[in-house]
Amino acid sequence: MQGVPQPTREEVLKLPRVHISTHPVMAHKMTALRNKHTSSAEFYQLVKEVGALLAYEATAHLALEPWEIDTPLERTTGYRLAGGIGITPILRAGLGLAEGFREVIPDAQVWHLGLKRDERTLQAMEYYNQLPHKVDLQICYAVDPMLATGGSAIDAVNILKRKGIKRISYVGIIAAPYGLLKLSQAHPDIDIYIAVLDEKLNDYGYIVPGLGDAGDRQFGTF
Ligand code: PRP
Ligand code: URA
Repeated sequence: MQGVPQPTREEVLKLPRVHISTHPVMAHKMTALRNKHTSSAEFYQLVKEVGALLAYEATAHLALEPWEIDTPLERTTGYRLAGGIGITPILRAGLGLAEGFREVIPDAQVWHLGLKRDERTLQAMEYYNQLPHKVDLQICYAVDPMLATGGSAIDAVNILKRKGIKRISYVGIIAAPYGLLKLSQAHPDIDIYIAVLDEKLNDYGYIVPGLGDAGDRQFGTF
C-alpha cells in the first residue's frame, strides 16, 4: 500500500448503507480482541461473541411472515423469519464470526467460501467453494473479520451475486477506510455492518491499529 492514497475515517463515515456498531459491550470486547496478549483460545471465543452481537444488529431488518401456533392456552399468530438465511464465512478467518452468527440463527445455511489474500500483491484468490446448487434465501451474510483493501469482500459478494442471491450483507469486525470505500463503491446495493472503523492500512496492507492477522490469531498459526 506504499504510496497508495487512502481516504480518512471522516471521508467514509457518511457512506450510505454502512452501519458501525455503537454498542458499549462491543467496544469492551474489541479492546480484548486487539490486545496482543489475548490467547488464541480467548481470541476465538471473543470473535464468536462479537459475531453474535453483529448478527443481532445485522438481522434487525429481516422480513417476517405470520405463523400460527398453539400456546398451552389458545391458538395465536406469531412470526417466523421469511425464507432461508445464509451465512458465507470467508475462510479461514470468517469461521469464528460465522459460529457467532449461528448462535443467533441456528438454522441458517452455511456456505463456505475459501479466499486467500496474496501477501505480496494483496489480491484475493478463490481456493474453496461449497455454495449449494439450490439457492432460496431471503438474505446471505458474507462474514469476514477484516475489511482491509476490500479485495476479498468484493470478490465474495461477486461470487454470491453470480449465484443469484438478491439480498446480500457484508459483516466484518474491523474495516479500514480504504476497504470500506472500495466495497461500498463496488457493491452500492449491499448493507455493510462492522464493529469498528480503524485509521488506515499500513505499507503491507494490514489494518492499524487493527488486531493483527485474524486467521492466525484464531487458529494459533503464527
Ligand atoms: C484476511 C482476512 C480477509 C482478508 C482481508 O484473510 O480474513 O479475508 O485477509 O484482506 P483484503 O480486504 O485486503 O482482501 P487471509 O487472506 O489472510 O486468509 P485467512 O483468513 O486464511 O488468514
Ligand atoms: N487480514 C488480517 O487478518 N488482518 C489485517 O489487518 C488485514 C488483513
